[in-house]
Amino acid sequence: MAGQPTSFETMYVQHFNEEARPLAYYLAKMNGYEAAKKAFGMTKDAIIDEVKKASLRGRGGAGFPCGMKWGFIPKESPKPKYLVCNADESEPGTFKDRDIMRYTPHMLIEGMLIGSFAIGAKAGYIYIRGEYVREAKLLNEAIDEAYAKGYLGKNVLGSGHDFDLTVHRGAGAYICGEETGLLNSLEGKRGEPRVKPPFPAQAGAFGGPTIVNNVETLADIPSIITKGGEWFAKMGKLEKSGGTRLFSISGHVKKPGVYELPSGGYTLRQAIFDVCGGMLDDKKLKAVIPGGSSAPVLTADEIDVVLDVEPVMKIGSMLGSAAIMVIDEDTCMVKLIQRITKFYAHESCGQCTPCREGCKWMEDIIERILHGHGKMEDLDLLMSITDNINGKTLCALGDAAAGPVASFVKKFRSEFEAYIRGEKHA
Ligand SMILES: Cc1cc2nc3c(=O)[nH]c(=O)nc-3n(C[C@H](O)[C@H](O)[C@H](O)COP(=O)(O)O)c2cc1C
Repeated sequence: MAGQPTSFETMYVQHFNEEARPLAYYLAKMNGYEAAKKAFGMTKDAIIDEVKKASLRGRGGAGFPCGMKWGFIPKESPKPKYLVCNADESEPGTFKDRDIMRYTPHMLIEGMLIGSFAIGAKAGYIYIRGEYVREAKLLNEAIDEAYAKGYLGKNVLGSGHDFDLTVHRGAGAYICGEETGLLNSLEGKRGEPRVKPPFPAQAGAFGGPTIVNNVETLADIPSIITKGGEWFAKMGKLEKSGGTRLFSISGHVKKPGVYELPSGGYTLRQAIFDVCGGMLDDKKLKAVIPGGSSAPVLTADEIDVVLDVEPVMKIGSMLGSAAIMVIDEDTCMVKLIQRITKFYAHESCGQCTPCREGCKWMEDIIERILHGHGKMEDLDLLMSITDNINGKTLCALGDAAAGPVASFVKKFRSEFEAYIRGEKHA
């Protein structure tokens, strides 16, 4: 039977329903705020050590170890420290943070409370994408409940720790998911990524030491504190990645949705054919984008890869935000990459010339190929533009645009050539 597997321990999916949202449910059924009580009895270093032991890698895309990141925050700082939750969820294909905010918001709030204590932050922000109108409202309601019961505010649970949490709504820009673009936007400036270093842990929000973490990363924290880092690490099947991961699976499968799978415990083939019930209308699989639209595309021959950071990287793509997009035999790959490239060209903030110009050039070239005005040299030109973008910009939006184009041209070249020869028309 296809669907969420039940053969292993899960943290989220059994609670992904409307009934789970209120604080009363969180307290009664999910051991709510007990982890925070335990954390307040620990030293800050012991909390960070537990997170390190858990092998919790950031769920936002880069997979950076969370405990190590928290360890970069200076112990003493003349400026206030901040904890910022990245709830921008702007990578196309990604919709798992939405379920956490919609159904289990207190997991996130408690995770932020513990994180703020560990790094010494008295203020936190949840930067949520503008389009998540309902989720912003639900989060605010959950935050109000937490304040009313003393889980937020002054001297939380008599610990001496003060923590204020604010929801900040974005205005619909992909670039504000990039952590320093996000911080600029939070400060009321244009959402343009900053030059790094300094990294946010040194100088982040309002110039203070700041940790930016994804929603899922932070929501994992209470379970790590309650059950221990080792328990969490063991949920993952490969050494460097602990816990389960929430996969957003979309496209041509019978049962798209959010699934929770152990890190490194499933192959892409199993995710598509066992978990999601196989291809929609039993069509043939043509390709898969394994980690959000910025991940290079994989062919149907590459789906025996294990779903974890290193294995997917080894075959030239990335697990990114664990957003799997499944593509069937009837999909035109040229039209698909045209749509993806149009998105990146539109969302480039324009600061860096290779990204601003390169994304638009790629869009224009793919557009002219689609409309019968392409030349065979255009394919080499596309590859050379991707080379001139990769690694040459302030943030990874450029790479996010270039990687997919290069992979589509390399792996599906004959489809581009068919348009150029006039055998296909848009
Ligand atoms: C263009 C761009 C968009 C991004 N969008 C998001 C996003 O929507 N959500 C997110 O958590 N991380 C996003 N990231 C990654 C963040 O910059 C950052 O690495 C992440 O929030 C760190 O959290 P983590 O360590 O918990 O993964 C994006 C990165 C780039 C370059």
